[in-house]
Amino acid sequence: MAEDPAGAPRKRSREVVIGRADEVPAGGRKIVQIDHLSIGVFRLADGFHAVRNYCPHQGAELCKGSLHGTYRPGAVAEFTPALDGRVLRCPWHGWEFDIVTGKGLYDAKSRVMTYEVKVTEAGDLVVMV
Ligand code: FES
Repeated sequence: MAEDPAGAPRKRSREVVIGRADEVPAGGRKIVQIDHLSIGVFRLADGFHAVRNYCPHQGAELCKGSLHGTYRPGAVAEFTPALDGRVLRCPWHGWEFDIVTGKGLYDAKSRVMTYEVKVTEAGDLVVMV
Protein backbone atom coordinates (compact mmCIF):
# COMPACT_ATOMS: atom_id res chain seq x y z
CA MET A 1 0.00 0.00 0.00
CA ALA A 2 1.29 3.38 -0.88
CA GLU A 3 0.37 5.51 2.09
CA ASP A 4 2.40 7.18 4.74
CA PRO A 5 2.13 5.88 8.32
CA ALA A 6 -0.46 8.53 9.21
CA GLY A 7 -2.78 7.18 6.51
CA ALA A 8 -2.61 10.23 4.26
CA PRO A 9 -2.57 9.58 0.53
CA ARG A 10 0.92 9.21 -0.91
CA LYS A 11 2.08 12.24 -2.89
CA ARG A 12 1.99 11.60 -6.58
CA SER A 13 3.28 13.77 -9.35
CA ARG A 14 0.75 13.53 -12.15
CA GLU A 15 -2.38 15.65 -12.10
CA VAL A 16 -5.36 14.48 -14.14
CA VAL A 17 -8.39 16.70 -14.63
CA ILE A 18 -11.48 14.51 -14.45
CA GLY A 19 -14.16 17.15 -14.88
CA ARG A 20 -15.79 19.96 -12.99
CA ALA A 21 -16.18 19.83 -9.22
CA ASP A 22 -19.77 21.05 -9.46
CA GLU A 23 -20.65 17.93 -11.51
CA VAL A 24 -20.46 15.90 -8.30
CA PRO A 25 -23.22 16.80 -5.82
CA ALA A 26 -22.78 16.62 -2.05
CA GLY A 27 -22.77 12.94 -1.09
CA GLY A 28 -22.28 11.98 -4.72
CA ARG A 29 -19.53 10.20 -6.60
CA LYS A 30 -17.91 10.01 -9.98
CA ILE A 31 -16.10 6.91 -11.25
CA VAL A 32 -13.42 7.62 -13.82
CA GLN A 33 -10.90 5.63 -15.83
CA ILE A 34 -7.35 7.00 -15.82
CA ASP A 35 -5.08 4.81 -17.91
CA HIS A 36 -5.39 1.33 -16.39
CA LEU A 37 -6.89 2.64 -13.13
CA SER A 38 -10.56 2.90 -12.28
CA ILE A 39 -10.96 5.45 -9.50
CA GLY A 40 -14.00 6.62 -7.55
CA VAL A 41 -14.12 10.26 -6.44
CA PHE A 42 -16.53 11.01 -3.61
CA ARG A 43 -17.77 14.35 -2.36
CA LEU A 44 -18.11 14.25 1.41
CA ALA A 45 -18.90 17.08 3.81
CA ASP A 46 -15.18 17.86 4.21
CA GLY A 47 -14.33 17.78 0.52
CA PHE A 48 -13.36 15.28 -2.15
CA HIS A 49 -11.75 11.88 -1.58
CA ALA A 50 -10.71 9.26 -4.10
CA VAL A 51 -10.14 5.52 -3.83
CA ARG A 52 -9.28 2.82 -6.30
CA ASN A 53 -12.36 1.11 -7.67
CA TYR A 54 -11.11 -2.36 -6.81
CA CYS A 55 -11.93 -4.37 -3.73
CA PRO A 56 -8.87 -6.17 -2.31
CA HIS A 57 -11.04 -9.15 -1.33
CA GLN A 58 -12.09 -10.51 -4.73
CA GLY A 59 -11.89 -7.58 -7.12
CA ALA A 60 -15.41 -6.14 -7.14
CA GLU A 61 -16.02 -2.60 -8.30
CA LEU A 62 -15.81 -1.24 -4.78
CA CYS A 63 -16.88 2.30 -5.65
CA LYS A 64 -20.32 1.08 -6.71
CA GLY A 65 -21.02 0.15 -3.09
CA SER A 66 -23.05 2.04 -0.53
CA LEU A 67 -21.78 4.83 1.71
CA HIS A 68 -22.69 4.96 5.37
CA GLY A 69 -21.20 5.27 8.85
CA THR A 70 -20.29 2.80 11.54
CA TYR A 71 -20.21 2.49 15.32
CA ARG A 72 -17.28 2.41 17.71
CA PRO A 73 -17.51 0.35 20.87
CA GLY A 74 -17.58 2.16 24.18
CA ALA A 75 -18.62 0.92 27.59
CA VAL A 76 -20.51 -2.36 27.79
CA ALA A 77 -23.52 -2.26 25.46
CA GLU A 78 -22.67 1.24 24.30
CA PHE A 79 -21.78 2.15 20.76
CA THR A 80 -20.85 5.55 19.46
CA PRO A 81 -21.63 6.56 15.86
CA ALA A 82 -18.44 7.19 13.87
CA LEU A 83 -17.14 7.88 10.37
CA ASP A 84 -20.53 9.14 9.27
CA GLY A 85 -20.92 8.93 5.51
CA ARG A 86 -17.35 7.85 4.79
CA VAL A 87 -17.58 4.08 5.07
CA LEU A 88 -17.77 2.39 1.68
CA ARG A 89 -19.29 -1.10 1.68
CA CYS A 90 -18.30 -3.45 -1.12
CA PRO A 91 -21.34 -4.52 -3.14
CA TRP A 92 -20.22 -8.17 -3.35
CA HIS A 93 -19.50 -9.38 0.19
CA GLY A 94 -19.76 -6.29 2.36
CA TRP A 95 -16.17 -5.54 3.29
CA GLU A 96 -16.02 -1.95 4.49
CA PHE A 97 -13.37 0.74 4.01
CA ASP A 98 -12.89 4.27 5.28
CA ILE A 99 -12.61 6.21 2.03
CA VAL A 100 -10.60 8.97 3.72
CA THR A 101 -7.78 6.71 4.94
CA GLY A 102 -8.34 3.61 2.79
CA LYS A 103 -8.25 1.40 5.87
CA GLY A 104 -10.46 -1.65 6.15
CA LEU A 105 -12.87 -1.73 9.06
CA TYR A 106 -12.94 -5.52 9.54
CA ASP A 107 -9.29 -6.29 9.06
CA ALA A 108 -6.49 -3.85 9.86
CA LYS A 109 -4.43 -5.42 7.05
CA SER A 110 -6.99 -4.75 4.33
CA ARG A 111 -6.69 -1.42 2.58
CA VAL A 112 -7.75 0.28 -0.57
CA MET A 113 -5.54 2.73 -2.45
CA THR A 114 -6.41 6.39 -1.90
CA TYR A 115 -5.61 9.37 -4.11
CA GLU A 116 -5.27 13.05 -3.39
CA VAL A 117 -7.96 15.22 -4.99
CA LYS A 118 -7.78 18.96 -5.60
CA VAL A 119 -10.19 21.56 -6.89
CA THR A 120 -8.56 24.29 -8.95
CA GLU A 121 -9.52 27.96 -8.73
CA ALA A 122 -11.32 27.46 -12.04
CA GLY A 123 -13.41 24.68 -10.49
CA ASP A 124 -11.74 21.72 -12.18
CA LEU A 125 -11.57 18.47 -10.26
CA VAL A 126 -8.04 17.03 -10.28
CA VAL A 127 -6.86 13.60 -9.15
CA MET A 128 -3.19 12.99 -8.37
CA VAL A 129 -2.06 9.66 -9.82
S1 FES B 1 -15.09 -8.55 -3.46
FE1 FES B 1 -15.37 -6.93 -2.05
S2 FES B 1 -15.96 -7.90 -0.23
FE2 FES B 1 -15.65 -9.50 -1.61
